[in-house]
Amino acid sequence: MNNKIAVLASGKGSNLKAILEAVARGDCCAKVEVVICNKADAGALQIAKKAGVPHVYFINPKDYVGREAFDAACSQVIQDADCKLIVLAGYMRILSESFIQTFPQHIINIHPSLLPSFIGADAVGDALRYGVKVSGCTVHIVTKELDSGPILAQSCVPVLIEDDHASLHARIQEKEYEIYPDVIDKLIKDS
Ligand code: GAR
Repeated sequence: MNNKIAVLASGKGSNLKAILEAVARGDCCAKVEVVICNKADAGALQIAKKAGVPHVYFINPKDYVGREAFDAACSQVIQDADCKLIVLAGYMRILSESFIQTFPQHIINIHPSLLPSFIGADAVGDALRYGVKVSGCTVHIVTKELDSGPILAQSCVPVLIEDDHASLHARIQEKEYEIYPDVIDKLIKDS
């Protein structure tokens, strides 16, 4: 069974950490083979190196002319490492259509809202501003429409009257750490 996955991240990398921990516990059958970050200071880079991920790359978008060229460099790395699933974990770049077509149905994303509510870059802030009383997170297959592919899993949390961005996001992230490794495990086992 090819259980190799590539994780793409832009930020602190706590979802990557949760996936690596689930793998180490034996709760997720993936092997994190590749981690790619588009930010030099992404915490995900340090987390990946510390965990001994075989291929860890900072790929600088400034070194490429346009989205297609940058995505082609990422897809080359992923294909060379023979990864079967691409896991977006706080990856804050829009993917080109050609990248999505290279791995059809094999790219998944986690988003900090109950989709289809609050697509976009600040789902937590948008949920707070709207005044919803329940929010959560969604794992979905990536398609060319932003945050809109088929939903694989969701988990909800209450929004409390005293919540600010940080407290609500933290509550949502606790759920992210549970559902993302589970979805990855199931996708690999079902493939
Ligand atoms: C997560 O909450 C994830 O849902 C969100 O970024 C955070 C990354 O945290 N993703 C998006 O907003 C995508 N639109 P992490 O770097 O600690 O894993």
